[in-house]
Amino acid sequence: MKKVLLFVAVILIGLGFAACKQDDGKIVIGANIYTYGDNFMNGVVRPELERYAEEKGITLDIVDSENDQAKLNDQVDVFISKGVDALAINLVDPAAASTIINKAKAADIPLILFNKEATEAGVMATYDKVWYVGTDSAEAGVIQGEMMVADWNLNKATWDKNGDNKVQYVLLKGEPGHPDAEARTTESVKAFADAGIEVEQLAIQASTTWNTGEAQATMQSWLSNTTFGDNIELVISNNDGMAFGAYAAMEEANIFLPLYGVDALTEALTMIGDDEMNGTVLNDGVNQARATLDLAINAAQGKDVTEGTDWVVKSDGTKAVRVAYVAVTKANYQDFLS
Ligand code: GAL
Ligand code: CA
Repeated sequence: MKKVLLFVAVILIGLGFAACKQDDGKIVIGANIYTYGDNFMNGVVRPELERYAEEKGITLDIVDSENDQAKLNDQVDVFISKGVDALAINLVDPAAASTIINKAKAADIPLILFNKEATEAGVMATYDKVWYVGTDSAEAGVIQGEMMVADWNLNKATWDKNGDNKVQYVLLKGEPGHPDAEARTTESVKAFADAGIEVEQLAIQASTTWNTGEAQATMQSWLSNTTFGDNIELVISNNDGMAFGAYAAMEEANIFLPLYGVDALTEALTMIGDDEMNGTVLNDGVNQARATLDLAINAAQGKDVTEGTDWVVKSDGTKAVRVAYVAVTKANYQDFLS
């Protein structure tokens, strides 16, 4: 009996190893983007994941989770049953990290979460092979806020339309509960308070997505609002995608207000050059993609995740690699045009 068990165990281990690598011996990473409909994740991060995977000589199996966490859970099950060497996962629901972590842990597969940080307290400590790659969410808001304060001070004579020394703003928030949406909202507005400038929020839109079309419809309704439509002095957008929608609505109404985004998408850089947007903040998706794969490849090989790289994993319990944001204005936007 013992011999039979041992035999079965040997076969299972053998199968396990065989499943790990492809026939060509390449490392396989199972990855997703929470939706291919997101212009930053799909337009900046995904292409670099694909390009960098090729550069590194690994196989990237990447899928669209179509903004559906249940779908992502199933996709992770499939990756695990295929025996991928590591997982690189962009959560749909930031409060659903534990589901993914538990699956990876049960299969003993290293997991890199990227772009959308887990919000469940303590969840990163539940598995020794999970790490996060993203940014410091608050930093984008701080930088965007500082840009807006500096520009307000320079342009106050024209920007303070009603001359009350207060900034009447509207804010396009993005996905509620998303750490980036929440922190950017708080920090960008706080920058005015920190500079001793009073603000008044006329309206805020928390859409379920970061999407251009929805933001355009919202901005149309704000501009035509009979109570405050004429009083808007500043449009704060938590990403460029929504800023594009806001700009389209302003163009239709022939009303042009100061407009700030985050991400530094190519189109936003062009708009800054054309004085259609006042500023954005580089969300360095290229380096986030590279860090994600660097960590995943190292983890798949049982190495220290940062071995041979310059990435730093925070030792504050977040297990995060945080890529820096950079202010982008008319003065430096050309540096970011590739
Ligand atoms: C943010 C980015 C947004 C959106 C979001 C998706 O970091 O600024 O544009 O892509 O991630 O999770
Ligand atoms: Ca005012």
